[in-house]
Amino acid sequence: MSSPIRTVTVEQVNAVIADAYSQSNHLLHILYALQQRFLHISHEAVREVASHLGLPISQVESVVEFYSFFYGTPRGRYNILLSNCTSCGYMVGDENLMDTLCQRLRVVAGKTRADGLVSIDETSCIGMCDHGAALLVNGMPITRLDASKIARIADLVETETPVANWPAEWFRIDDNIRNSSLLLKNDFAAGDGMRAMLARNIDGTLAEITQSGLRGRGGAGFSTGMKWKFCREAQGAAHYVVCNADEGEPGTFKDRILLHSHADAVFEGMTVCAFVIGAEQGFLYLRGEYRYLLPQLQAVLAHRRELGLLGSSILGQPGFNFDIEIVVGAGAYICGEESALIESLEGKRGVPRNRPPFPVTHGYLGQPTVVNNVETFAAAAHIALRGSTWFRAVGTEKSAGSKILSVSGDCAAPGIYEYPFGVSIQQVLDDCGAKDVQAVQVGGPSGTLINPVKFNRKLGFEDLPTGGSFMVFGQGRDLLAIIVNFAHFFAHESCGFCTPCRVGTTLLKNGLDKIASGHGTQYDLDEMKRMGALVKRRSHCGLGQTAANPILDSLQRFPHVFEQRLAHSNFEPYFNLDGALEEARQVTHRDDAAAHLK
Ligand SMILES: Cc1cc2nc3c(=O)[nH]c(=O)nc-3n(C[C@H](O)[C@H](O)[C@H](O)COP(=O)(O)O)c2cc1C
Ligand code: SF4
Repeated sequence: MSSPIRTVTVEQVNAVIADAYSQSNHLLHILYALQQRFLHISHEAVREVASHLGLPISQVESVVEFYSFFYGTPRGRYNILLSNCTSCGYMVGDENLMDTLCQRLRVVAGKTRADGLVSIDETSCIGMCDHGAALLVNGMPITRLDASKIARIADLVETETPVANWPAEWFRIDDNIRNSSLLLKNDFAAGDGMRAMLARNIDGTLAEITQSGLRGRGGAGFSTGMKWKFCREAQGAAHYVVCNADEGEPGTFKDRILLHSHADAVFEGMTVCAFVIGAEQGFLYLRGEYRYLLPQLQAVLAHRRELGLLGSSILGQPGFNFDIEIVVGAGAYICGEESALIESLEGKRGVPRNRPPFPVTHGYLGQPTVVNNVETFAAAAHIALRGSTWFRAVGTEKSAGSKILSVSGDCAAPGIYEYPFGVSIQQVLDDCGAKDVQAVQVGGPSGTLINPVKFNRKLGFEDLPTGGSFMVFGQGRDLLAIIVNFAHFFAHESCGFCTPCRVGTTLLKNGLDKIASGHGTQYDLDEMKRMGALVKRRSHCGLGQTAANPILDSLQRFPHVFEQRLAHSNFEPYFNLDGALEEARQVTHRDDAAAHLK
C-alpha cells in the first residue's frame, strides 16, 4: 500500500495506467487501478488517463465524481465502509458500530485520519443482509459485526496488520440456501445446456425459451423470449449480451449466491443468448461490492474456455464465436437500471438514457443488446437443458418457474429461499421462522410495504412482483426509522439527472427527518404526499418513479407510525431560526427572553 499522491510522479501514474490497460482498456478498470495504488484519483491522474484513452478530460473527471468508490482526495490506507442498510447496516442490533469504530480509531466519519492510516464512511447495502452487520475493508467484506469484532478491527488497523493477515473466518461468506426449487435443486454440468441448444438450433432454442414463459427476474418481468427475438431481429454491426449483476436493491443478495455457486449456469445462459441473437461479445457487469468474487468468476470463465464453451468455434460449431468480459462497477445503485448500466459499460457516468429506443435495438455502443438479470440467465441455461415443459410445470400461469428470494431482517433463518411462483408471504414467513411480524418489504425499498392483513398475498407477476428482496420487520422495529433510511438511500443514489427526482428525493428525505425528530406537522405529511406523487409521475427513470413508494405505502397502511410523531401545531418551519441564534447567544452570554424569537 502506498502513500498519498503528493509523492507520486507522472511516470508512476503512467506505469499504473499502462499496467491496467494491458489487462483491460475499460475506464472503470483503469480508474480502479489508480485508486488502489494512490488511494485517490488526482487531477493529474485524470489528465493522464484522458490522454491515454483519447477521452475528454471532462468525461474522466465526471466519472470519478459520479461513482462512490472513486475519490478525488486521498482515502486511508485502510478504507472502511460500513453498510447503512436496514438489514446489514452498522445500526442493526443494539449498538452503533460506526460511532464505536470512529471513536476507537480517532477518526471522523467521512474523513481520512491526518496520518493517512484510515478512513471510515458509510455506504449503501453491500448485499450481506443474511450475515448481520457488515463492512468492506479495502473492498473485502467482513460480516457478523459486533462490538468485540469492531474492537479487534481497530487494533489490527492501528498495528497496520495487512488485511490479508486478518482472521480468515471473518471473510467467510455463506450461501445460506434454506429452500430450493428449479434452479438451486437441480445439478447443472457446464456445457450440457449448450449441447441441447445446438441440437435444437437457433429457432428451436428461441422457441423453447419463449414457450417456457420465462420473464425477467430483475423486477420488471419482461418476456425473455420476446426480448431475445427483438434483439435478434434488430439490425446492427454487432450484437451484445449483458448480464446485469449490479444487484444493489437493499435486501437483495440472491445474485451473489448464483455467482458464487452457480456461475456456470449464468455464463451458459449468456452463451445460449449469444447463440440466439448472434452476439460475439458478452459482459458481466459486477457490482463493485462483489469485487471479491472476481478471481473466482475469472477462473470459471477460464475453465469454460478450456472446455471449448467460450472462444472461437464453440463446441466445434464453425462461426459460433463468443466470449465474456467482466466489468466491475464502482458503487452506484443506478447502474442496475439497464440503460445506465450500458452507459457505465461505455465508460461514462451511469445516467439512464431516454427510452425508446430500447437496448434491444440501441444498446451497447448503439448496437442491439440483450440485458438480463443473473437469475434470468441461470434459468435460461436450465431451460435450454431441460426444456420449456419442465419449467412451466412449476409456478403460475403468468409467472412460470421459480423465484429466488433474499430473506433478511427479523427472522430465525435469513438466507436464500427458492419457491415456485405463487407462494404466499405467510408461507415464506413461516419457513424463515418469523414471529410477531409488523410488516414485510417485498422487492426492496422500491417495492411494496405489506401489513399483516395482506400476508396472504402471493409473489408473482399477477399479484406481487419482486426482484427478490424480502425484508421482515418485527414488532420491535421502529418502522419510521426504516422509512427514513429508505428515503436517505434514494436521495443518495439519485443520479441527479432530472429535477423531480434530484430535488424531490431530497425534499422527501428532509420531510421525514423532520417528522422523525418530532417537528413534523400534518402540513408536512400533506406536502410529502403531494411531493411523492409528483416524484413518482415526473421522474425520468425507475429510481425516481419508485422512490416515494415506502412513504406513500406507509402513509396509507401504517398512518399511526407518522401520526404519533407529529408536533402539536399546525406548522413548524424546516429551519429553526431561534436554534440558529444559539451560537450568537452564547458568544454574547445572553439567554434572556429578548434574545429568543417568540
Ligand atoms: C434503479 C434501478 C435499479 C435496477 N437494478 C437492477 C439490478 O440490480 N439487477 C437487475 O437485473 N435489474 C435491475 N433493474 C432492472 C433493469 O433495468 C432491467 O430491467 C433488467 O436488468 C432486465 O433484466 P431481466 O429482464 O432479466 O429482468 C433496475 C432498474 C432500476 C430502475
Ligand atoms: S429519476 Fe433519478 S435516478 Fe433516474 S434519471 Fe432522474 S435523477 Fe437520475
